[in-house]
Amino acid sequence: MNADESNQIWDAEQYAGNARFVSDLGSPVLDLLAPGPGQKVLDIGCGDGALTARIAATGANVVAIDHSQSQVEAARDRGLEARQLSALELDFEDEFDAVFSNAALHWIKPPDLVVANVARALKPGGRFVGEFGGAGNVGKIRQAAMAALRSRGLDGEFVEPWYFPNAEEYGALLQAADFRVDSVELIPRPTALPGGVAEWIKTLAQDFIAPVPEEERPAFLIDVEKTLEKDLRDSDGVWWADYVRLRFAAMLASAP
Ligand code: BEZ
Repeated sequence: MNADESNQIWDAEQYAGNARFVSDLGSPVLDLLAPGPGQKVLDIGCGDGALTARIAATGANVVAIDHSQSQVEAARDRGLEARQLSALELDFEDEFDAVFSNAALHWIKPPDLVVANVARALKPGGRFVGEFGGAGNVGKIRQAAMAALRSRGLDGEFVEPWYFPNAEEYGALLQAADFRVDSVELIPRPTALPGGVAEWIKTLAQDFIAPVPEEERPAFLIDVEKTLEKDLRDSDGVWWADYVRLRFAAMLASAP
């Protein structure tokens, strides 16, 4: 499945209100990228460009791409070079010193095509650095949503669009595309949700609600909240998503 086949609609304003944490928590993967003056960097799934702007601020020359026109426009409003383009359709060849991606690669299937396109876009010895949802990501939210769908006679498994691999699987995928894997690890990262779990689903995980008839959605979301409350809501009333990140850094083999 690629992002075209997901029910997700990205709205830059809604994203800024409920999902700013996605870019705010991007510092570790930016540190791993270590961009610098003159480097040519491709940012895959740039969203509204918050992290792209931080890469550009180091003096790197960044091209940002995203599948969503709304997000591309928000990135352009920051003065960035942003194009509406899927990572499945990359036609760059031998152009970039580094390819970067935060919180996007779990949306884009098949992953081996993404990795092959990244390898083609990089110069020999170029780096591929990123972070996205790994095995077990949002497992509790997923189970609660599946149960609420099943209780309405709906098939949740069928609608799930994401790719959440483990470290061994993704490392092998990178190696098969001629990358040397410098690091690949799963990082559990419980993440506070500013608008709670229902807003998170409405903003970032619309595939869970897509099969539910419009008028039943409020009750569906209440069911999900009730199931999750004991595990994911703390004593101050803050909701936490059970995020697990897969973070990696790899280098394309140099030309022989
Ligand atoms: C994530 O960033 O891990 C994520 C976002 C939306 C849906 C599922 C996972």
